[in-house]
Amino acid sequence: MRLGVNIDHIAYLRETRKINDPDPLEAIFIAKRAGADQITLHLREDRRHIHDSDLYRIAESSFLSLNVECCSELEMIHLISKVKPHRVTLVPEKRDEVTTEGGLKLSSTLLESLKILRDNEIEIALFIDPNIESVEKSADFSESLKVPIAVELHTGKYANLSLMLNSNLSRMHNSIQTLECNRERLKAMLAQEVQNLQEITHQAYKANLNVYAGHGLNYINVKDIANIQGIEELNIGQSIIARSIFVGLERAIKDMKALID
Ligand code: PXP
Repeated sequence: MRLGVNIDHIAYLRETRKINDPDPLEAIFIAKRAGADQITLHLREDRRHIHDSDLYRIAESSFLSLNVECCSELEMIHLISKVKPHRVTLVPEKRDEVTTEGGLKLSSTLLESLKILRDNEIEIALFIDPNIESVEKSADFSESLKVPIAVELHTGKYANLSLMLNSNLSRMHNSIQTLECNRERLKAMLAQEVQNLQEITHQAYKANLNVYAGHGLNYINVKDIANIQGIEELNIGQSIIARSIFVGLERAIKDMKALID
């Protein structure tokens, strides 16, 4: 299984001071040394962490394949198409969100952006909620475009349930209020979400979609997702960068790679 390391949080730390340190470019060399398979970054419309110059410098320097997450706005698609990363993952974007909150709305308005990416020979992935409608619509896009595409399954619900069950979060001020319930219920919901992710992976695989997953995966919850047959790649950011503060980035990536292998 491949590991894509999302380096947005390094740029995020830089932006807390609006200076040039730490530089996300440095991370790509460490990631390669640590055995990562891909660099993932998100160029947001508001440029709140990764900037255009980061994208250009990383695209030029990265030995590893580059996966750029972005919204489907045409201006953004044209900008990124000029850089020609290996893959673009389309994600929904809201200005006031802390992080990507849910999967893409898969309406036919996406088609124009997808055609531009296809014509530039950039692999396409759609960040979707793990449900059958999203898989079917993604398969329809693949058929219209006449190229294979991928779906990245949003694991946020799974990750939140896992945090509430397996960490101390439920007793802290950041407790997820909508998931405050007894442990038996949380256990049942978590098992159900793993089963859902398994079924949706199977459906996507049957529909000839490549299947990846990501969001909120960490050193505790990653194994159950890595065990799902058919998922080829995980994209992980926050937990790796958080751990790197204490053990260094190379060690943090190696530890994650060892878990998913
Ligand atoms: N995959 C996609 C499409 C994302 O947008 C993100 C960041 O929100 C991630 C993976 C990584 O999520 P995290 O930082 O929670 O590991």
